[in-house]
Amino acid sequence: MTSFVTHLESAIDGTKLPAGTVQTLHNGRPLWVRYDLDAVKAHMSKEMLCRRPATMWRYRELLPPQHDESIVSLGEGMSAVMHLPRLGQALGLHNFWVKDESQLPTGSFKSRGLSAAVTMANEFGIQRVAIPTAGNAGGAMASYAARAGMEAYVFMPADTPDINKYECAMAGARVFLVDGLITDCGKIVQAGKEVMGWFDFSTLKEPYRIEGKKTMGLELAEQFQWELPDVILYPTGGGTGLIGMWKAFHELKEMGWLKSDKMPRMVAVQSEGCSPIVNAYESGQRFADFFDGAATVASGLRVPAAVGDFMILDAVRASHGRAVAVEEDRIQEFMRLAASNEGISVGPEAAACVGAAEMLAAEGWIQPHEQVVFYNCGASQKYPHLLRTDLPLLSKESEIDWGFIATGVQEWPVEAVYA
Ligand SMILES: Cc1ncc(COP(=O)(O)O)c(C=O)c1O
Repeated sequence: MTSFVTHLESAIDGTKLPAGTVQTLHNGRPLWVRYDLDAVKAHMSKEMLCRRPATMWRYRELLPPQHDESIVSLGEGMSAVMHLPRLGQALGLHNFWVKDESQLPTGSFKSRGLSAAVTMANEFGIQRVAIPTAGNAGGAMASYAARAGMEAYVFMPADTPDINKYECAMAGARVFLVDGLITDCGKIVQAGKEVMGWFDFSTLKEPYRIEGKKTMGLELAEQFQWELPDVILYPTGGGTGLIGMWKAFHELKEMGWLKSDKMPRMVAVQSEGCSPIVNAYESGQRFADFFDGAATVASGLRVPAAVGDFMILDAVRASHGRAVAVEEDRIQEFMRLAASNEGISVGPEAAACVGAAEMLAAEGWIQPHEQVVFYNCGASQKYPHLLRTDLPLLSKESEIDWGFIATGVQEWPVEAVYA
């Protein structure tokens, strides 16, 4: 099958560029991938979709490669969408949902973007790739590069969660720990391009990671029978997912696939420890200022400057959404709230969305009956240092009436009880 891509288009000034060749930024700003949506519509039907495998590649016509053989996949996509009545009740919301991306290959939603980006690099014959990462994108790139037989270089802040370091090294990438932030890692990747000859997979510096992330929106529409929710809460670092979903919803609208014109209000969620997008939103700016002193346990949100800042802010404003920051000190509390109420393994980034839901419901900005979806972008198990803390030790006598054991408590090797 061939691609339905017509061209690439500058997100800042609409300049058109050809798609059949390697492209990066235009005048320092990202590119959109554009499709012939009439032709897509004529070629793909909703009925057809039902018969396709449950991966993001079921939306093949809305994805960029020319050749099926280029696709590099680990089975990513079709993550579960679940209603969360107990957690919703705790937050004052009756119609609260999660799209659980923690179930994807490499344990995070980064697999979608990197599957698409590595696929396109594969199509263009690129053999050596590099990425600056807050953690999960590096893990995903290393895995997809391994699958494609590419050489991978990963640059991450030295205090990135250990699991991210291990998963990259395990997949055969060369991993560099940088005494700095993701923006410093980005400078190294940029500076090394010529000498090292690697292709730069930085967020939005190539056009295809958005296309992979876009499938989170396509799937949500399909899973909700082509009717979009009222509000989407998205943990925002570089913002690719929020931007990609907003693009997906417009493509579906243009194809006439949505049951109504209602678009969700998109909420960019950050932590008070790193909230450049929130600051820009609140002060009415289209471009965000660098956030000094970025520090948050939600490592995926520790992005003090995003190359697609204006794309995030445009989408948030066009959707009548918001950009909000939650209290850094409460993130672990929200991880626990989600896990103990619903059994879902919510990473700290998504836990910020639970906090945002609580805040926006209390403000009345979200009405109790509205349908709200948050994205759980990564598994909590990738952050064992956040799971380990705060385990209250109980007395074993207080938990069980040990009288049911005839021989008595003392002989049973129970040493500690946690709750
Ligand atoms: C688990 C998790 N959530 C959220 C984000 C932020 O994603 P985005 O860059 O699409 O805003 C990241 C990025 O590293 C992440 O790893």
